[in-house]
Amino acid sequence: MISILHIITQRLSRTMAFALPHLLCFLVFLQQLPIFTTAQNISLGTSLTAKPGNSSFWASPSGEFAFGFQEIGNHGFLLAIWFNKIAERTIVWSANGNSLVQKGSRVQLTSEGKIMLNDAASGKQTLIADSTANEVAYAAMLDTGNFVLANKNSANLWQSFDHPTNTILPTQTLYQGTTLFAPYTASNYSKGRFMFTLEAGGNLLLYTTHFPLDTANAAYWSSETEGTGFQVVFNQSGSIFLTSRNGSILTVVVNNTVPLPGFYRRTTIDYDGVLRYYIYPKSSNSSEGVWQMAWSTLSFIPSNICVNISYYKGGGACGFNSLCRNDQKPSCQCPNGYVFVDPDDVMRGCKQNFRPQSCDEVPSMEEFYFEEMQNTDWKESEYEKYTPVTEDWCRQACLADCFCALANFRNGDCWLKGMPLRNGRIDPSSGVKALIKIRRDNSTLKLPHSPHSRTKRNSTLLLVGSVLLSSSGFLNFLLVLITYLVVSGTYRRRPNMIQPYTVLPGMNLICFSYEELNKATIGFKEELGRGAFGTVFRGVLVSEKCVAVKRLNNMVKESELEFKAELSAIGRTNHRNLVQLLGFCNEGQHRILVYEFMSNGSLASFLFGKSRPNWYRRKEIALGTARGLLYLHEECSNQIIHCDIKPQNILLDDSFTARISDFGLAKLLKTDQTRTTTGIRGTKGYVAPEWFKNMPITTKVDVYSYGILLLEIIFCRKYFEAEAENEQQMILADWAYDCYAEKKLQLLLENDDEAMHDIDKMEKYVMIALWCIQEDPSLRPTAKKLALMLEGTLQVSVPPDPSSFTSSIV
Ligand SMILES: *[C@@H]1O[C@H](CO)[C@@H](O)[C@H](O)[C@H]1NC(C)=O
Ligand SMILES: *[C@@H]1O[C@H](CO)[C@@H](O)[C@H](O)[C@H]1NC(C)=O
Ligand SMILES: *[C@@H]1O[C@H](CO)[C@@H](O)[C@H](O)[C@H]1NC(C)=O
Ligand SMILES: *[C@@H]1O[C@H](CO)[C@@H](O)[C@H](O)[C@H]1NC(C)=O
Ligand SMILES: *[C@@H]1O[C@H](CO)[C@@H](O)[C@H](O)[C@H]1NC(C)=O
Ligand SMILES: *[C@@H]1O[C@H](CO)[C@@H](O)[C@H](O)[C@H]1NC(C)=O
Ligand SMILES: *[C@@H]1O[C@H](CO)[C@@H](O)[C@H](O)[C@H]1NC(C)=O
Ligand SMILES: *[C@@H]1O[C@H](CO)[C@@H](O)[C@H](O)[C@H]1NC(C)=O
Ligand SMILES: *[C@@H]1O[C@H](CO)[C@@H](O)[C@H](O)[C@H]1NC(C)=O
Repeated sequence: MISILHIITQRLSRTMAFALPHLLCFLVFLQQLPIFTTAQNISLGTSLTAKPGNSSFWASPSGEFAFGFQEIGNHGFLLAIWFNKIAERTIVWSANGNSLVQKGSRVQLTSEGKIMLNDAASGKQTLIADSTANEVAYAAMLDTGNFVLANKNSANLWQSFDHPTNTILPTQTLYQGTTLFAPYTASNYSKGRFMFTLEAGGNLLLYTTHFPLDTANAAYWSSETEGTGFQVVFNQSGSIFLTSRNGSILTVVVNNTVPLPGFYRRTTIDYDGVLRYYIYPKSSNSSEGVWQMAWSTLSFIPSNICVNISYYKGGGACGFNSLCRNDQKPSCQCPNGYVFVDPDDVMRGCKQNFRPQSCDEVPSMEEFYFEEMQNTDWKESEYEKYTPVTEDWCRQACLADCFCALANFRNGDCWLKGMPLRNGRIDPSSGVKALIKIRRDNSTLKLPHSPHSRTKRNSTLLLVGSVLLSSSGFLNFLLVLITYLVVSGTYRRRPNMIQPYTVLPGMNLICFSYEELNKATIGFKEELGRGAFGTVFRGVLVSEKCVAVKRLNNMVKESELEFKAELSAIGRTNHRNLVQLLGFCNEGQHRILVYEFMSNGSLASFLFGKSRPNWYRRKEIALGTARGLLYLHEECSNQIIHCDIKPQNILLDDSFTARISDFGLAKLLKTDQTRTTTGIRGTKGYVAPEWFKNMPITTKVDVYSYGILLLEIIFCRKYFEAEAENEQQMILADWAYDCYAEKKLQLLLENDDEAMHDIDKMEKYVMIALWCIQEDPSLRPTAKKLALMLEGTLQVSVPPDPSSFTSSIV
């Protein structure tokens, strides 16, 4: 044998030396040739030894099936039966899925006719098969895939077909009381979480198990043949049916639609709990046409495992807290805010990727938000149901309840659900919305902070900042930052000083070269928008991160200062409702700012686009914008007045969180800031009246603009519409006040059912907006008050008529 091999190899290598890959394949093939190619009767006393390379097996006469050892990764060896003529060597039966054996282990047909497995590592002996009648003459691997112990008359005394693991084959029959177990994963053959069983009572069922026990938990498919089911037959031509005792067919489990003989077939309960009927062409060009050399699924049950499993015990199809989605195959994913317990074993479920709500903390929308997912339901997980309520009520109920992990809502029904969540599924037919409660910021602990120390820090910085900024040079910017670093560093060492936001993110700014940005934007090609001071382009950095690149116009002499003002102001801000500055370029005449890219565009296109956006999302955006303003006005190191709040300057990120952008007009606040030093800034319609009067410009100009913006958010209408039905309706602020005063706000809400259902909240928002647009700046709320009112922490009183000035603007 060896010498023949040698000659063949030599000849091959002389004539086909160039075809190395083929040669290698050929050699591998030769090596894999089993020792018992035409293995027939296995006589008593014969044994096989587990060794690397999958070459220890007894093959059936045709060579299509083999019994022996298969190496499972580097975990050990499985005693198994498999399809031996296909590349996958798919396992159809196994003896020791729960305890693999190590290299050197042996399986033996003993002289008494028993199949024994000896583990080389532990020395443990396991009985795999025997016969009570003490007359085994030989064993054989048959061409059907059945491994048998037979007597001298070739009668089967024991057969693997009577002890199926997870697969049945043509000619195999399942009797009452037989159970197939799904493997744990695709490559782990220990008993998993699902089973397929023909119960003694006659029902054929798919069950989840009480893993790690193998007892039945909940059925998710049934033949409904209690009392009549007798046998499951997988017949020669490939159909599977359940018969009664007298042989009549009760249920066709699989009606074979590819009746031709040129295919391997099997029915397997897979690790995902689906029972699948597979075929595999014996050759790639059968008379049926050209087939892919792989297992194809012809049919499967249940039709949608994600939906069909629904029981109050157990982890369902994907484990606790997870979501099951069924397209072609079931797949598991985690809801937003959650991650897999074990990414290598996704069916173990998901866990919260944030600090869970404690029942001692007073929750607020400041700390938690709700992620919305349409058609997403967790069945059998509710501990409370409220009806009829509004969605807003439902959110508040979940927020206030420390046991609530999420709420499901549909048509006035609100279900509160707690840990662990069961049977999560994405099902387009359900119409149920999930509101998942997620902690906004995992890291910051909410502790009371002293307003006194903050004020002190601000004034120190203001002083340093304004002195430095009034001199020239780009270095000043760095100086400010360094000073800030030193100052805040000193403060950090004080034990009672709490920093609610990351200190000094501004130091992370990247300095780009013009060439880099030219490349990132492909020569400043894709324009995203134009602002007062520059044009914004889409770009992709080398790291594949998407960015918005704002090229500032070649401006008059103010531009240098403008640029630094913007850099120093933005560089130090960091808040989830602001667009983050990533870097800049200051090369020759090129002044460029690089921002993170906001995938959902501007609030303007969101509000005034084709379809009316969701009311809850709009409320979140209103609140987010107010929080961003609050940060700019009161919480960042130097107070920043935006001066140009309008929907074009509010951008939306992946999760539709509002992010204030464009600080191009923002100025560091100087104590005596007035119109004379600044000139009118802002956009018609959103501009506060004090710009036109000889009055100081304060943060209240932003509050004014915000009021107009809020009205636009509530009504999805522009502040001014020339084509309105009548003159009275042209100016949104006037119309809104009139409707409010006459208690006819619903007139403004044509077809907005969501907002109509939430009319109290809507009216409150209108009142807040009316307070914001008061002519007298001192009547307008501060950003802090604004946020508190929107959150519902602060009562809103009846606003006076703000109307006297609006007509003078438009
Ligand atoms: C043995 O067979 C298994 C399954 O068919 C395969 O994953 C493994 O890589 C094979 N091992 C070797 C050494 O060929
Ligand atoms: C296997 O053994 C049985 C009984 O001894 C015998 O009848 C049969 O011919 C044998 N088969 C082969 C292929 O040797
Ligand atoms: C297979 O899964 C079981 C159950 O989780 C585990 O105990 C066992 O170690 C796994 N086996 C292998 C070979 O990974
Ligand atoms: C297998 O079952 C199907 C469906 O009952 C039947 O049509 C077919 O004739 C059977 N084939 C054999 C070989 O018994
Ligand atoms: C076979 O049994 C089934 C159910 O047990 C019964 O409905 C059917 O009539 C029986 N058929 C014959 C031929 O006895
Ligand atoms: C099985 O399929 C064939 C052809 O597709 C059809 O004629 C037959 O009625 C089916 N049998 C059953 C029991 O569904
Ligand atoms: C398959 O292909 C081989 C050669 O490539 C040919 O000899 C054989 O007839 C083909 N078989 C069928 C069923 O077409
Ligand atoms: C399984 O789910 C499918 C799809 O939703 C449904 O049509 C079928 O009735 C369900 N079956 C069971 C047994 O629940
Ligand atoms: C949040 O904190 C927990 C520990 O409390 C940690 O396991 C988790 O990874 C954190 N999540 C994020 C997003 O940082």
